[in-house]
Amino acid sequence: LIKDVFASESLLIGTRLVVCGWARTIRLQGSGKFAFLELNDGSCFKSLQVFADPNTEGWQELVKNTHAHTSWRVTGKLVESPGSGQSVEVQAEGLQLLGSCSPDSYPLAKARLPLDFLRTIPHLRPRSNTYGAASRIRSTLAFSVHKYFQEHGFQYVHTPLITTSNCEGAGELFSVSTLMSKADTCYTPENRSWDYNQDFFKRPTFLTVSGQLQAEAYACALGNVYTFGPTFRAEESHTKRHLAEFWMIEPEMAFSNLQDVMENAEGLLKFVDIIEKPFVRLAYGDAIDLLQRSGKKFEMPAEWGNDLATEHEKYLCEEHFGGPVIVYDYPMDIKAFYMRLNDDDKTVAAMDILFPRCGEMVGGSQREERIDRLLGRIEELGLDGSSLEWYNDLRRFGGVPHAGYGLGFDRLVQFATGLENIRDVIPFPRATGHAMC
Ligand code: 4AD
Ligand code: MG
Repeated sequence: LIKDVFASESLLIGTRLVVCGWARTIRLQGSGKFAFLELNDGSCFKSLQVFADPNTEGWQELVKNTHAHTSWRVTGKLVESPGSGQSVEVQAEGLQLLGSCSPDSYPLAKARLPLDFLRTIPHLRPRSNTYGAASRIRSTLAFSVHKYFQEHGFQYVHTPLITTSNCEGAGELFSVSTLMSKADTCYTPENRSWDYNQDFFKRPTFLTVSGQLQAEAYACALGNVYTFGPTFRAEESHTKRHLAEFWMIEPEMAFSNLQDVMENAEGLLKFVDIIEKPFVRLAYGDAIDLLQRSGKKFEMPAEWGNDLATEHEKYLCEEHFGGPVIVYDYPMDIKAFYMRLNDDDKTVAAMDILFPRCGEMVGGSQREERIDRLLGRIEELGLDGSSLEWYNDLRRFGGVPHAGYGLGFDRLVQFATGLENIRDVIPFPRATGHAMC
């Protein structure tokens, strides 16, 4: 790999090597008497310079294919570079064209293409510097998330993607059906001889909006667990922070309360990023007071009982506190059925962590472990109790206080990279009216 060549370049001088990669540029110089290829193989940002001349095997092929993004296999010797700008280069003995690339039809032939154009070619955009960098940061962040939980003794659980339960209780579900051909043909959108059938599981099924409920089942057996996988929401919102398919990190902790998950989430966010300042903790009621006294004219005035609007979140973490804020103890009516009712009988032990630029990064809560209250809440909200019987069993058979949270992984990548639009931090964005590949 080119990365390895740079890592031990002084040791490798004089040795013969084979490198493969894509040409960033190919310059024919000296009236066509020699050429420089800047070769990149994706293993690092830097390109390795390759020197070739008419004695190099494959020279003719090179002269015919001098476009960027042609791919090559080069054999040659690593030498000290006489030119400036790089300390070593490869003196090519042989060049083999692996793939040509026509600049007339290659969508990335021009430099500095805008992000919204690149969004229309998600299969090619990882080749651009911005996406290359974002993908690497995404991979590193995912690894550190696993490291954090593994080092804290959490078991990684794979929760299902197809489910009958609607964890958040909102109407943002994608339903799952089978698609069967009446005739022996391949599926095409034009071919109408296909039947959608919802009966495969003998009851309505959906793509999961959260792995929480199933993670609870595992926490009630293994103690501390986490799930980290794709989740789906049929959000019609055209914002810079919503996707229809996004990745969520969801730890669930047995014998734990709201304080414990606040600490765990703050610890995770500090472990994977560079934030050092303690997060502000603010009860929802105090947040409303603060917003009302701020003297700011909000489009939607802050009022007890309503969810915080984006403008309120922005005011709290960007203007007032200048950093992440944990808001806790929300009114029960604006939160999900499983959250534990507080002694005031009107708020629940819930918390959201609000971040500058990205808004809500984390949503979590202590779960209602008291079976009578949980059943009461399911009934009050008119939820399908039969699909939640298994969930209620977790309280019937050795129920314990437990708590957990969900952290939107793509929002974390957004925060860490500084990229403005969430569609630019996920490899293949899925959002309303926009899915390809
Ligand atoms: O607040 P949410 O809806 O919480 C849950 O789903 C809980 N069941 C989590 C848990 O307690 N285990 O979502 C959690 C986080 C949000 O704070 C946000 O970061 C992210 O998931 N999120 C989205 N990210 C991108 N696109 C969307 N449409 C998102 N919806 C939520
Ligand atoms: Mg939420």
